[in-house]
Amino acid sequence: MRLCPGGFPAYAARLDPTGHRSHSGDVPELSTILSDLRYEIVREIYEGGMGVVYEAKQHGTRGFAKRVAIKVIRERFASNPEFIENFVGEAKLVADLIHTNIVQTYHLGESRGVCFICMELIRGVNLEQFLQRLTLCGRKLPVELAVFMVSRIARGLAYAHAKNHPDGTPLFLVHRDISPKNIMIAFEGDVKVTDFGIAKAKGLLKDKEGEEVAGKPEYMSPEQADFMITDKRSDIFSSGIVLAQLLTGQNIFKGATAEDSRQRVMHTPIPDFSRLNPEIEPKLNQILQRSLSRDLALRYQTADEFLYELEYFIYHRGYGPTNETMGKFIRDLFKEESTPPAPPAGTATGGTMRMSGTIKVPKRKSTSLFDRIKSKIK
Ligand SMILES: Nc1ncnc2c1ncn2[C@@H]1O[C@H](COP(=O)(O)OP(=O)(O)OP(=O)(O)O)[C@@H](O)[C@H]1O
Ligand SMILES: [Mg+2]
Repeated sequence: MRLCPGGFPAYAARLDPTGHRSHSGDVPELSTILSDLRYEIVREIYEGGMGVVYEAKQHGTRGFAKRVAIKVIRERFASNPEFIENFVGEAKLVADLIHTNIVQTYHLGESRGVCFICMELIRGVNLEQFLQRLTLCGRKLPVELAVFMVSRIARGLAYAHAKNHPDGTPLFLVHRDISPKNIMIAFEGDVKVTDFGIAKAKGLLKDKEGEEVAGKPEYMSPEQADFMITDKRSDIFSSGIVLAQLLTGQNIFKGATAEDSRQRVMHTPIPDFSRLNPEIEPKLNQILQRSLSRDLALRYQTADEFLYELEYFIYHRGYGPTNETMGKFIRDLFKEESTPPAPPAGTATGGTMRMSGTIKVPKRKSTSLFDRIKSKIK
């Protein structure tokens, strides 16, 4: 491709005043683009039982760099074909989920036998860290912000549940693991659903429903806990548990053991939540009761319906919470972590975001992704 003196391709110089471009001549015919994506690990964000999530720099040509998140599976799981199948299945499943309330996946890669998923980097915390910080600071989450957060989860779910295969047939996607660690809140106030690792969808993920239960027992729907086949209404029950927890500070189904929690999900009577928190108005208690109905016919049938009621609740009086109000609240709660360090004297640009507290920040020099991962996932 010829370049103009300013570095732009020659054809850019031939844009006519209406913005239309002439395609004759030197426009390259492109059907496939081969490029070398290179990732450089910046820091570890999260180390889980099955994998590790890193912040990384994705390098492009001529000094282009973009911050991304990279999720890698541990080596001991990497040799398990079923696990790999699900990891790859997750990436394929979410590849086309493009929604502001879902963490976006950019790429599934493999290098030296290690599979990784590259995603949008969320500068923020997960809901579990958010709740821990609230407790630590002795602060209460305002009712309307709690409802706002779950309304954004419902938005993301409504979109995912309605997703079709490229041929137009329904995907019948169910997340199956809606729980605080799989919800992210950005310091800008966006709330996003992540980790479709045990989601099921027709034809994309290995599904052992009916034989095995997957997910965190205290956030499961009763039908999921009872080894039954789930549908999108299962995610609504789990979102109801999260909402109740945000409003009361406790998960009523959390037992001493996983089995205890599973039993509680199936049998513990659903309380009148207004008694647990007098700030919960009757209408909000009704929403909670309906989302937590064990009778599937009485539960919200779609995440859209649930979303409508949540949004009506927060907005029917007029101005209600927004990403901005959520952002202010979380930045105040995570003051240090959400404030970029001041640039060194004499420089015009800021540095990278500092993280501390509950989030581990190994102070290491950046090395290549896979040298770092190899040593980590032994
Ligand atoms: N795109 C992202 N940007 C920033 N942080 C992220 C991102 N994705 C995940 N994280 C962080 O990593 C944590 C684990 O992510 P995720 O749930 O996808 O991994 P996992 O291996 O399935 O973990 P677990 O088994 O504990 O659910 C999240 O709770 C969040 O704190
Ligand atoms: Mg997770």
